[in-house]
Amino acid sequence: MAIRNIREEGDEILRKNCRTVEVVDEKIKQLVEDMLETMYKYNGVGLAAPQVGVLKKIVVIDIDDGNGPLVFINPEIIKEKGKQEVEEGCLSFPNKFAKIIRPAEVTVKALDKNGKEFKLKAKELLAQAISHEVDHLNGILFVDKIIPGTLEVVKENNTK
Ligand code: NI
Repeated sequence: MAIRNIREEGDEILRKNCRTVEVVDEKIKQLVEDMLETMYKYNGVGLAAPQVGVLKKIVVIDIDDGNGPLVFINPEIIKEKGKQEVEEGCLSFPNKFAKIIRPAEVTVKALDKNGKEFKLKAKELLAQAISHEVDHLNGILFVDKIIPGTLEVVKENNTK
C-alpha cells in the first residue's frame, strides 16, 4: 500500500471526465487500497480517483458510522430525492469550506472492490458524500455549487 499525492485546486486533472473501469483486476484493487490509505491519512470522509491523478471511475467513502469503508467502482446515481443544505469541504481544497445544496437521498449502483454489482440507498451525510465524490468523476467540484456568501477560507494549520 502507498499514500498517493492529493491533487489540489488548480490542477486540471480535477476538471476531467473519468473513464469506466472495464475489469476489476489486481491493479485496480491496489489503487483502491492506496486510495483508502490516502483518505484515512488525511482524515477525509471520501476520495475520488482523479484526486490522486487517476482518471478512472472509482470512489472510496468512510463516514465513520461503522459501515465503512465503502468502495464504488463505476458508480451511477440512479435516483435522487429531496434536498439538504450542508457544510462541505474537500481534500483537494484543504482550506475551503462552504454551504451547498445536496440531494437528501440518493440511490447508487456500482461495483464493489471485488467487481460485484450492488445498489445502495443513502441519506444525510452518506448521500452528501456519494453526491460529492460522484461529481468528482465528472470534473465537478463543490466550489461550483457554493451558496453565495458562505465560502470560508481558513488558514493552513499544522495538523496534517
Ligand atoms: Ni472532494
